[in-house]
Amino acid sequence: MNYSEVLKELENLVTETYSLWDHNRVGFQWRHYTWNHTMRVRAMSIELGKREGGDTVKLEVAGTLHDITKRYDGEILTDENGKRLLSEDGLWLNEPLTPSRENIVTQLYDEHNLRGKVHHESGAVIAEKILGMYDFDRDFVDAVRAIVLAHLKPMNLTEEQFDLLYRNIENQILYDADTMDPNVGYTAFFRNIHIHSYFAIKRNGKFDLEAYVQGLPRFVESKQAFADKLLTESAREVAYARQDRKRELADQLASELSDMPMNRKYGMLGVIEYFVSQTEDPHFMDQVNHLKEDWIPERQKWIAETETTQAARDGAQEALERVIDFTTKLEREYKGEI
Ligand SMILES: [Fe+2]
Ligand SMILES: [Fe+2]
Repeated sequence: MNYSEVLKELENLVTETYSLWDHNRVGFQWRHYTWNHTMRVRAMSIELGKREGGDTVKLEVAGTLHDITKRYDGEILTDENGKRLLSEDGLWLNEPLTPSRENIVTQLYDEHNLRGKVHHESGAVIAEKILGMYDFDRDFVDAVRAIVLAHLKPMNLTEEQFDLLYRNIENQILYDADTMDPNVGYTAFFRNIHIHSYFAIKRNGKFDLEAYVQGLPRFVESKQAFADKLLTESAREVAYARQDRKRELADQLASELSDMPMNRKYGMLGVIEYFVSQTEDPHFMDQVNHLKEDWIPERQKWIAETETTQAARDGAQEALERVIDFTTKLEREYKGEI
């Protein structure tokens, strides 16, 4: 079997595994999120691998498998005072969720008593066992296992422990890509909208667009520390650019509030409302494709056919240009390019 066939099989195994649970939302995740995130992290890892001189094949395989046991994670466990329970490594512990159906991954999970382990540890074991079924060198399998294990960083590592865990550049790279995806850039903005709106609708029965936009600058700044603490220089460079991009977007959105009717129709405010219209189990690439293939072309037609004055056409076109720029960059982030 050649490499691209093996990779395809691994991808199928991961999506099959994610479909074995019936629940949709848990904490900050939803059914489609984990796979969309996996694809983004993998693409970013490969890009960082090229820049840092890492092994992109190891990164591709490890990126595909890194969250393979993530769907076992239920609600975050807390003690009687509401404090989050931590593993020995200082990582959050989750209530384990039992899958409704089985496959080779769930069988291996049971066989190796992985229940209760944080998903970087269980994922590393599963990755090793699965890759062992193919014709990979022992060194390759060990390297991928180590990359998956290092994608979460234990708290309070000694310098020696840190050097051991992150001695391979690939281990640093997947950690960086995985940390960036939910925290910085338009991908993080997409995730934040879907978390914020889901909980707002659950709590108050509605999503307050204006209040959300006003809170965005604080959200962006709260993520700066993630960018500062990334391990590789290439990742910090990308993360700073993503933070700047998101700051500009927050400013843009704040100015869009001065003409809400127009910008809800043609601008980024309208994009947020479109995202929020599917908040139960949003699919990242489906929503990006919808913007590109339907949402934008439809509005281009409206501008030409229904806006009667030149000033209205110009304003609408300008708003739509912001959406086109946003969509292009969101897709480029998805591919790990920026
Ligand atoms: Fe993870
Ligand atoms: Fe991840």
